[in-house]
Amino acid sequence: MYCSQMIWFDTHAHIQDEDFREDFPEVLSRAASAGVTRVVMAASNEEDSRAACRLAVHHPMLYAAVGVHPHDAKTWGAGTAARLSDLVQTANRDALHAGRDRCVVACGEIGLDFHYDFSPREAQRDVFRKQLELAHALDLPVIIHMREATELSLSILREAHADGLFAREHPAGVIHCYSGSAETVPALLALGFMIGFDGPITFRKARKPIEALRVVPADRLVLETDAPYLTPHPHRGKRNEPSYIPLIGEKAAEILGESAEIIAARTTANALRLFRIGLSRELQNGNALNESKTV
Ligand code: NI
Repeated sequence: MYCSQMIWFDTHAHIQDEDFREDFPEVLSRAASAGVTRVVMAASNEEDSRAACRLAVHHPMLYAAVGVHPHDAKTWGAGTAARLSDLVQTANRDALHAGRDRCVVACGEIGLDFHYDFSPREAQRDVFRKQLELAHALDLPVIIHMREATELSLSILREAHADGLFAREHPAGVIHCYSGSAETVPALLALGFMIGFDGPITFRKARKPIEALRVVPADRLVLETDAPYLTPHPHRGKRNEPSYIPLIGEKAAEILGESAEIIAARTTANALRLFRIGLSRELQNGNALNESKTV
């Protein structure tokens, strides 16, 4: 159904979750068939970060993020930062041994969630700042989760920016599943962030994310599934998975009045830049693809 030359990148999925244990190889092969060449697994806590790293080491199309979600901020302890740092080093070393490039490409998802308040707000705030410092120490971009906490998130990010915690020569990170207003987008762009859009732009009643999508510059847009959550139309109600990225991309293309090819190429290039993944292997893969077609 999808042109094999369209190359997509799912910048946020939780396929290390239990929900994917039964059919993990099929999930990856369906993603590959849909043209999804890369998936970044966002982590929720320490154990989840380990699970993401374990998978990423052995699967060249997978990358891991490490971090503690605001829901799990209460699990943060004195040794957490040091253990996450060790994990990054070990996983990257194992990846090199396994013959691939480094596999940990971000710190996340981190931030504030005042919708559910699963962890005390004071702890969320404290753990958010600590992980912005950790990401700086590890020289990694950040994946930001912010829900009903835009003002405070912005002020924490502004402070981190002023303190020099974000790399100047690279994107600072990504605002995951952007649910804020179009008016807030410029402030996030100014801090060096890319903006991620997910299944909700395909929902019938979507208005806010579509308005926000329209004001994001071409070089700051990335696409994510957030699988197993936020399943795009027409699969709502079912488990989400990375192979559905083209559905989100095609909808984004329609909203922006562009072709799906342009959106695929643009968002993939943005994601590679965001996570500082070299382009050389991407090109090699492209050549391999062309060669195999002519055989
Ligand atoms: Ni997520």
